[in-house]
Amino acid sequence: MKKESILDQLKEYRGIGYYPFHMPGHKRSNIEEGLALPNPFLIDITEIEGFDNLHQPEGILKESMKRAAQIYGSDETHYLVNGSSCGILSGICGCTSPGGKLLISRNCHKSVYHGILLNQLQTEYIYPQIIKDLGIQGGILPEDVEKKLKNHPEIQAVVMVSPTYEGMVSDIEKISQIVHRYHIPLIVDEAHGAHFSFGEEGEFPISALQKGADVVIQSLHKTLPSLTQTAILHMKEKYLGKEGMERIRRYLSIFQSSSPSYVFMISMENCIRYMEQKGRKRLSQFHQKLMDLYEIQKKLQHIIIPGNEWIGQAGVYDKDSSKILMMPESSRKNGVWLKDYLKVFHHLELEMCTERYSLALTSLLDSQESLDKLKRGIYMADQEIQGEERIPLNISQDFEAWNTTSAYTIAEAVDMPSQLERLEQCAGRLSAEFVAVYPPGIPCLVPGEQISHKMVEALTRYWKIGLTIMGATVQENGMFLKVLTEKDERVTVYSPTGV
Ligand SMILES: Cc1ncc(COP(=O)(O)O)c(C=O)c1O
Repeated sequence: MKKESILDQLKEYRGIGYYPFHMPGHKRSNIEEGLALPNPFLIDITEIEGFDNLHQPEGILKESMKRAAQIYGSDETHYLVNGSSCGILSGICGCTSPGGKLLISRNCHKSVYHGILLNQLQTEYIYPQIIKDLGIQGGILPEDVEKKLKNHPEIQAVVMVSPTYEGMVSDIEKISQIVHRYHIPLIVDEAHGAHFSFGEEGEFPISALQKGADVVIQSLHKTLPSLTQTAILHMKEKYLGKEGMERIRRYLSIFQSSSPSYVFMISMENCIRYMEQKGRKRLSQFHQKLMDLYEIQKKLQHIIIPGNEWIGQAGVYDKDSSKILMMPESSRKNGVWLKDYLKVFHHLELEMCTERYSLALTSLLDSQESLDKLKRGIYMADQEIQGEERIPLNISQDFEAWNTTSAYTIAEAVDMPSQLERLEQCAGRLSAEFVAVYPPGIPCLVPGEQISHKMVEALTRYWKIGLTIMGATVQENGMFLKVLTEKDERVTVYSPTGV
């Protein structure tokens, strides 16, 4: 179906009628009054008189963001036109000094690692708990945060992702209390939880902003009806201080485009107003529909759909039911099969898949009809697997491969001499690249980290089943990773005389 233009290809794709169980949260449909935008060319302006400046807001943008802050209960809320990524970079650079130390959960998105690289930070990692029966990551234990902070008093800030891509939420309230005892700020990447701020208690998890985090970043575009790339950053002053807030503002100005899109900013303002006025009720109705969808669990023999039963285990404090994880248990059919099956036979386009699962992202703009289609698709997929041997795929050992040592900081390693090495030869070598299965883009290797045998095995498997591995080079004769050349070469690189 290759066309000569992106638009033509998109038109053809639309014509086939695949339904999007993926981002963006507006789902390209059911766009009501209050959310709808006119022809984008008609509202695409620059900082002409009366329209303020995002990098020094004093007028209409300042007022708009102030209204947003009141709705969210933050001390300050900023519109982000470069996605959550630029908010995460700003939060990290604003809360640390160059060369300082950051504590992060190891399952953070690549933008967190990019912040570490930019500010040349040293890192301490907390590893999420593993839900062994499911083979996925759970939450972060507050006691693990406490241990790290006690042993490393030089840590300047803590970053964690909650919810995870799979919807697992950590106990942010307890974690923030611990972090604050050390007088440092907690940054929470809530990119996948922008809807939390508008849910009723008991429906969706409560936002990290209400649970005590100091900087919270949310991608509006992922789970709410707003254009791709739109996101927001919230700040609370108590532990950041005026100076910390000012530093984050400065970095926002550095990392965001100097030509912020008014189309995006209008979309964000519309989205937040809509959520405040109608969205809360719509979220409640959506939650009801989701609970109905989860009823399908009872009828399935071979596909597991994890629900709230995992709350309270493996560091999972709460769970976002809008992320529908579907895990086939069969000797021959895995998450990749399920994603393809739902696309080909039911015209449902999912967000992503791994070997273990397929993931459908739902939002409050999904109609009952579309959710029913998903329910039927899952049921039919389960029927397809009938009769096959039920073998739960145990891949939780993959995560042991993550628990590795680093010989250099990320910033040191990226500038060291490196070479391509066949994947099979990489065990024991130090990675020179970020390597991540995409989506979701969580690096399983970062520059400077030692590559374990288990990691080589896992990457080989991922490659064989066709997952996209960013940071690896595929050639005709196999897959290669960029590894550091011998350690001694560091002397050459850093020696001012070149010796
Ligand atoms: C957990 C997480 N954080 C941050 C981001 C970056 O968000 P954005 O695409 O809005 O820049 C992503 C993107 O997928 C993500 O999955």
